[in-house]
Amino acid sequence: MALLLFLVLLPSLSWTQPAAQFDVCRSLRGLEVGPGWEFSACQPPPANMKELMQIRVDPPSITCGNPPERFCTLENPYLCSDECDASSPDLSHPPQLMGDRERAGHITYWQTVTWSRYPEPLLANITLSWNKSLEVVDDIIVTFEHGRPTSMVLEKSMDKGVTWQPYQYYADNCLETFSMSPKQISDLAPTNLTQVICTEQYSRWVGAREEKIVVFEVRARFRVFAGLKLINMDTLYTQMETMKGLRDFFTFTNLRLRLLRPALGGTYVQRHNPLKYFYAISNIDVPARCNCNLHASQCLLRDAKLHCECDHNTTGQDCQRCSRGFKSHSWRRGSYLPLPKGTANSCTYLWLEVPSTSSHLPTPTSSRTLVGSWDT
Ligand SMILES: *[C@@H]1O[C@H](CO)[C@@H](O)[C@H](O)[C@H]1NC(C)=O
Ligand SMILES: *[C@@H]1O[C@H](CO)[C@@H](O)[C@H](O)[C@H]1NC(C)=O
Ligand SMILES: *[C@@H]1O[C@H](CO)[C@@H](O)[C@H](O)[C@H]1NC(C)=O
Ligand SMILES: *[C@@H]1O[C@H](CO)[C@@H](O)[C@H](O)[C@H]1NC(C)=O
Repeated sequence: MALLLFLVLLPSLSWTQPAAQFDVCRSLRGLEVGPGWEFSACQPPPANMKELMQIRVDPPSITCGNPPERFCTLENPYLCSDECDASSPDLSHPPQLMGDRERAGHITYWQTVTWSRYPEPLLANITLSWNKSLEVVDDIIVTFEHGRPTSMVLEKSMDKGVTWQPYQYYADNCLETFSMSPKQISDLAPTNLTQVICTEQYSRWVGAREEKIVVFEVRARFRVFAGLKLINMDTLYTQMETMKGLRDFFTFTNLRLRLLRPALGGTYVQRHNPLKYFYAISNIDVPARCNCNLHASQCLLRDAKLHCECDHNTTGQDCQRCSRGFKSHSWRRGSYLPLPKGTANSCTYLWLEVPSTSSHLPTPTSSRTLVGSWDT
């Protein structure tokens, strides 16, 4: 499912490179259209950023297994044979297991302590950091084992964790939990697509095995502009340039899941059996690309840090400024427009006025000296 969208977004994921004139980027066209080059604004291909995320869980003591603990299932509260033990490799459930690759048939997951302190709420924050500006390109999918939370909030930061804002609210009863009326993406019009909503779609009890995923819907938002099959990506890119706040809506450096209330199995909390209430997450998919301000077609890992490989005489982690020797105030973000090639908005050379040093020939005008250096 994810692969399909990538192919639609970037018909030629295989590789991209700056074209000869470095102004636009080119990539090999998809085979179904026939061989040849395709030109576009410069942006790195999407990747599943879960492989590169730093995971922090708060409070740290929320992870189960220290001391070892037994837990039960919601479906059968008398089935309490499972155990969490942080000191045993086979029975521990550390946070890294949310970001690892699942080998076929063997699901690994992070798990919290059980709700033995009920009625005190069972709260946990999961903070995902990349320390790099990213643009989400497909649904963010969180997979819960043992039931989805009855309420949680997804938050994002665009400034490496200095400030945070809600991204989406999730509850089995939005009005009661967050005083918001429940919405779906289909309730949104193009003009309010960037509105933060509360959805009940991923929080109602339907069985722990039946529905495991909680989604932040990116594809459905793209569809509003690009059509049901995401064929008309041009319209989306045009909107990204013209509609205020749209591009920022899909941009982030960190994400945070605030887990507020675990799955309850469709009934009230049964105080006599708190061992069946806890959170367990096996996977978090974050399909995104590096935000390089449309000045790079590659994003590489250098010293364990994501970095845009900047073109257009720009430099910086996000190509957010001009290279040395170029007019710093000439920096502008690249543009998707005009379609399909976009505009590079390269930084321009700095021309210095240098007095002539020649003593023989009187020169009425100063000579212009070119100062240019490529910071790469
Ligand atoms: C989770 O993060 C929020 C801020 O987004 C903070 O107010 C809250 O105290 C944190 N909760 C825990 C359990 O660390
Ligand atoms: C994040 O990146 C910035 C540079 O962009 C660097 O100064 C900072 O130390 C990094 N922080 C972490 C936690 O890696
Ligand atoms: C978005 O706008 C449409 C049309 O203007 C309106 O019907 C809908 O209620 C709005 N959605 C939200 C969530 O406010
Ligand atoms: C760098 O700037 C010069 C002058 O503006 C321009 O001619 C050249 O194409 C730029 N290089 C790139 C890679 O855009």
